[in-house]
Amino acid sequence: MKQVLLSGIFLFVTELLSAQIPNLVFPDTGFVQGLFARYLSIGNDFTRLSEIHTEPAYSVSSVLKNPFSGKVKAPLKGPFLMELQGQILLLDSSLYSFRLRSSDGAIVWIDGKKVLLNDGCHGLTETEAELPLNEGAHAIRIWYFSSNPVLHNNLELNWKRFDEPDFYAIPPGIFRVEKSKIRASRTSAFPRKSTNAFSKGKSLIAKSGCLACHREREALTGPAFLAVSQRYRNRKNSAAVLNSKIVNGSSGSWGFNRMPPQRQIKQQNLDQMVQWILSLK
Ligand code: HEC
Repeated sequence: MKQVLLSGIFLFVTELLSAQIPNLVFPDTGFVQGLFARYLSIGNDFTRLSEIHTEPAYSVSSVLKNPFSGKVKAPLKGPFLMELQGQILLLDSSLYSFRLRSSDGAIVWIDGKKVLLNDGCHGLTETEAELPLNEGAHAIRIWYFSSNPVLHNNLELNWKRFDEPDFYAIPPGIFRVEKSKIRASRTSAFPRKSTNAFSKGKSLIAKSGCLACHREREALTGPAFLAVSQRYRNRKNSAAVLNSKIVNGSSGSWGFNRMPPQRQIKQQNLDQMVQWILSLK
């Protein structure tokens, strides 16, 4: 009798708790609540997450119980990148809308698919996406960076089900991270140092003195490589044209400055540089 009464009270309390915090998920032993956060320091000239090809060097990690509680506080001084990983545990299958707001850039992947892209250096900017998701656990990963942590430190991830009128903060109780992931020293999803043509072209440009006059995204003495890509990308023979312009020099295409001939560069390296320039978007 006493036992029945006790379990009755227990049920009542449980009901009460779940009524107050509708999305509270009771703990599972292999997991802890929150998302696993890693903070990496980045250079002052970092402007886009999409351009990461190797993992930034220095890293501090922690588990954030309430990862979108407001301003992002970084344990690092200076520009930083934050990677959040874990799962969201959904109680309902539904069509979910997500809204990502950030300053500076952020990217959200759910189940390995890039769902929200809000990349670049900018003030508070938002983007939305809809995604049908089944009840149960879904992998979530977020990359966020701040070029200036004093001024740019916002990251918000809101959602709503299709039958709900307004966006609201995702309840922190549905975020969880595997204990084994926290223990593992390297759980990073950053690409490893790669030797593909893409990153090679970029590093060859850095080594060949081109950066004395060019930047990736801003005009200097010479045009931004991005602008070159936008002008030439869809033209016929664009690679061959740029190839010969670099070797023979160029004038009159972009303004009054001349580019001296760059004859010292090997043909093979030239191809990779041009491939990289034309890949910029
Ligand atoms: C001394 C400065 C300087 C250096 C060094 C330099 N450039 Fe340039 N580059 C320029 C200028 C100026 C222009 C614009 C010329 C024009 O208006 O036609 C230019 C234009 C270009 C263009 C566009 C050509 C066109 O016709 O649109 C490419 C591609 C380019 N540079 C690649 C490179 C690469 C790769 C290197 C290194 C191997 C390099 N540049 C080194 C100054 C430089």
